[in-house]
Amino acid sequence: MNQEKVIVIDFGGQYNQLVARRVRECNVYCEIYSYKTDLNKIKEMNPKGIILTGGPNSCYEPDSPTCGKELFELGVPVLGLCYGAQLMMHVLGGKVEKAPVREYGKTLVNVDKKSKLFSDVKEETICWMSHFDYIKEVADGFDIVATTKDCPVAAAENVNKNLYAIQFHPEVLHTEEGTKMLFNFVRNICGCEGSWKMDSFVENQIKAIREKVGDGKVLLALSGGVDSSVAAVLLSKAIGNQLTCVFVDHGLLRKNEGDEVEEVFGPNGPYELNFIRVNAKDRYYAKLKGVEEPERKRKIIGEEFIRVFEEEAKKIGAVDFLVQGTIYPDVVESGLGGESAVIKSHHNVGGLPDYVDFKEIIEPLRDLFKDEVRKAGLEMGIPENLVFRQPFPGPGLGIRIIGEVTEEKVKIVQDADAIYREEIAKAGLDKTIGQYFAALTNMRSVGVMGDERTYDYAVALRAVNTIDFMTAECAEIPFEVLQKVMSRIINEVRGVNRVFYDLTSKPPGTIEME
Ligand code: XMP
Repeated sequence: MNQEKVIVIDFGGQYNQLVARRVRECNVYCEIYSYKTDLNKIKEMNPKGIILTGGPNSCYEPDSPTCGKELFELGVPVLGLCYGAQLMMHVLGGKVEKAPVREYGKTLVNVDKKSKLFSDVKEETICWMSHFDYIKEVADGFDIVATTKDCPVAAAENVNKNLYAIQFHPEVLHTEEGTKMLFNFVRNICGCEGSWKMDSFVENQIKAIREKVGDGKVLLALSGGVDSSVAAVLLSKAIGNQLTCVFVDHGLLRKNEGDEVEEVFGPNGPYELNFIRVNAKDRYYAKLKGVEEPERKRKIIGEEFIRVFEEEAKKIGAVDFLVQGTIYPDVVESGLGGESAVIKSHHNVGGLPDYVDFKEIIEPLRDLFKDEVRKAGLEMGIPENLVFRQPFPGPGLGIRIIGEVTEEKVKIVQDADAIYREEIAKAGLDKTIGQYFAALTNMRSVGVMGDERTYDYAVALRAVNTIDFMTAECAEIPFEVLQKVMSRIINEVRGVNRVFYDLTSKPPGTIEME
């Protein structure tokens, strides 16, 4: 491909794909490569710019991911972010050390507006910091162009050599003007024209799927959530009747959800799909009995999915491919997105058993973020109410019940969640909050109801606003709505005597509890 391209070099941070995605948003083609990639290969790609990502290591430790000085001598603009910024300084002779004050979260940064990086950025701007180490001294030839109260080098540049280092994370939306900074780098410093448009993703995928599948048979794991629904419609457009969608009702769905999914994708719905519903509640509960550890629960649920699919595949006969609606945040948080650490094993990604009896697994949405999946869904004419459904994780309520999963707990969380959703919709908030749900804490506490002592569970309500599900902020719900939900849950759901509202953002929390 002859088009202009920026290369992101991955040093193991959680936000690497976000960097690539922000570059895509500047209409510039972008690819991610491991830091181990040979420099000659990078040269051959003739990039217009290179971005070094963050990462969890300390660049001065002997075994940490690194790069040679030559990377900075290609004559190509390089931008280092967080770990990438420290590494750039370290390799070029600056000093990086453990910071006396660790910075984490939103931080006020003072920028030098004369720097091209900060063109059109406010002099004082909020940025997302997350670092233990800091740049104590810049390398020769660098000027400091941003500082914070605790960080003497929040950004530095060597204009003559076109090298730029930023200690914070412009790719994360918490950095209020981060998109502008990346735009400044990609378009103004690297000089990219921004002529690349994301080719119709749908069209390309349909072609690729047809080529891969030939006249083979395909099974799709349909959960009724946005991702697998978009994958189902995409596959059905590509290969029609060769596709069978299997919907596993694992007994960990939201209240009435099994029937709702069947209404849309079953024989009476608008899509002409081969649809099979498998009621597997009992076998799931049996496998989960006594299991408390979140990762084990995820693995068990993931493995059981595959076993059910294998059984269904045998019934159909000669099924070669399994399709899953895995999206990018699932991949990166499962630790499979390159160099990053495992946060949790998103089901059917890190949750896959070692042995899978299919020739191949197809994950057509693997490179997309949720909002991009939605765009693809709308492009295919999937109705808005389906495309904008609340995301629901593959392991379902299994990861919204802390500790052991039992039928009794599932019922409690289903009922509490249904009340919560109903009240949120009544208050007209269902379209404005990114994701909201009830979860069951494993905590029981003493209460009093009608002069009687109770010793019951606490339900946690969660509501977050997020664009890409990689970061999220707790949503502000009017107090009267929360009170109404609390009072209805305690009155209507047996076994609950306390309701909490979870204020945690992501990071440091995750959206789901487990
Ligand atoms: P976390 O909890 O990782 O959630 O902050 C981010 C988004 O991903 C959803 N999620 C999952 N989706 N399989 C899925 O299909 C999973 O195992 C899984 N775990 C979390 C979660 O609901 C949120 O939207």
